[in-house]
Amino acid sequence: MKYVPEPFKIKTVEPIRMTTKEYRQKAIKEAGFNTFLLRSEDVFIDLLTDSGTSAMSDAQWAALQMGDEAYAGSRNFYDLEDTIRDVYGYKYFVPTHQGRAAEHIMSKLLIKPGDFVPGNMYFTTTRLHQEMAGGKFVDVITDEAHDPDNPHPFKGNVDLNKMQKLVDEVGADKIPYISYETCVNMAGGQPISIGNLRELRKFCDKYDIPIMLDNTRTVENAYFIQKREKGYAGKSIKEIVREICSYTDGCTCSAKKDGLVNIGGFLAMNDEEFFINAKAQVVIYEGLHTYGGMTGRDMAALAQGIRESVANDDYIRYRVEQTNYLGEVLTDAGIPHVTPHGGHAIFLDAKKFLPHIDQEQFPAQALASAIYVETGVRAMERGNVSAGRNQETGQNFKPKLELVRLTIPRRVYTQSHLDYAAEGIINLYKNKNEIKGLKFVFEPKVLRFFQARFEPA
Ligand code: F0G
Repeated sequence: MKYVPEPFKIKTVEPIRMTTKEYRQKAIKEAGFNTFLLRSEDVFIDLLTDSGTSAMSDAQWAALQMGDEAYAGSRNFYDLEDTIRDVYGYKYFVPTHQGRAAEHIMSKLLIKPGDFVPGNMYFTTTRLHQEMAGGKFVDVITDEAHDPDNPHPFKGNVDLNKMQKLVDEVGADKIPYISYETCVNMAGGQPISIGNLRELRKFCDKYDIPIMLDNTRTVENAYFIQKREKGYAGKSIKEIVREICSYTDGCTCSAKKDGLVNIGGFLAMNDEEFFINAKAQVVIYEGLHTYGGMTGRDMAALAQGIRESVANDDYIRYRVEQTNYLGEVLTDAGIPHVTPHGGHAIFLDAKKFLPHIDQEQFPAQALASAIYVETGVRAMERGNVSAGRNQETGQNFKPKLELVRLTIPRRVYTQSHLDYAAEGIINLYKNKNEIKGLKFVFEPKVLRFFQARFEPA
């Protein structure tokens, strides 16, 4: 089947507006050629992110009415606690307003200045919180992940030789934990395999290094395991999610993705002392430990969203195959992009799309701007701008992957929206030589991609 039909029907609609090319040329200039700075009203199809952009179900909207807004001990907290225990299996958790708040608290509690934190590729906010706690991020993902065309089915895996090298160089006592991400975002949404996680668990047990999961897209990862890993075709998504978590010691989670809500996150763990310390931190930065950064109704919608994400396997099949459909249409037209296709997005390869633009002139940033002008579709840069500068040398990181992310919100767009986006990008590819590089006119010191401004170089 080319397109898996949506396992839902539409009850509420939100109008979107098509603009002219001239209008969009003006809008992107005013936004400093940064799609983060566009007004969403000026966007026709918004593929900026899958974060907090999901459509909630009727049951989630109903759950909002059941919010218990007590300052302490809200019943929605206990419902969320039961749900997290049932679906992910962790003993303890603290709610946070979103994923980066959980990263902040975990980094502060576990990292000491001078520590090294290995991870299967960096994520922007995760690495920043590690650095702010005095740690240094070390990339231990497989080499295949840095190659946009490598067909490896699990490009998110950790390379255990890289882990061994780090342990030999710095000593295990300088490694507070490994940060292990499912469906690695910056690699193109590439999954990890259970086989890799099991081997990592053995390795970490030997050196007494905890595994902290970035649990943001574990449900999507479970679908790839069910589809591709030997022995898992007969297991349910729920069973696979639970098994992934069982090899880890805790997690940070941005619930704005798999969790099908517009805001929310949590930090979960099995260690009681870590939990006690996390509760002490959450009251400083977020709110009392039984609501953290969320209202009662937010927690109610999240508990329902987590349950829906694993209730049956149809939802996640539709979800990941919808993303794959966009990738297949682009493949048929010869548009360069990361393969195999990830779970939440298709990542265009800007180095190959725009070979005439030097990486120091930000080809992915330029491509995201050009896509907006051509189509009204908003995408996101995931390349040299997102990677930032090396704090020691001041040089741009110039990552191997210079990508534009076409991110699919969950349960929001239909096949014809994706066809429209693909058609526009295919047209743009024919005139790619007219696209010019960019230079900074404003460069923020941290997480510069969010607010940077550019002009044509
Ligand atoms: N970890 C991963 C893998 C993420 O993708 C994100 C957010 C976070 C942590 C941080 O969570 O946004 O809730 O604070 N990713 C969004 C994106 C921003 O567009 O990819 P947050």
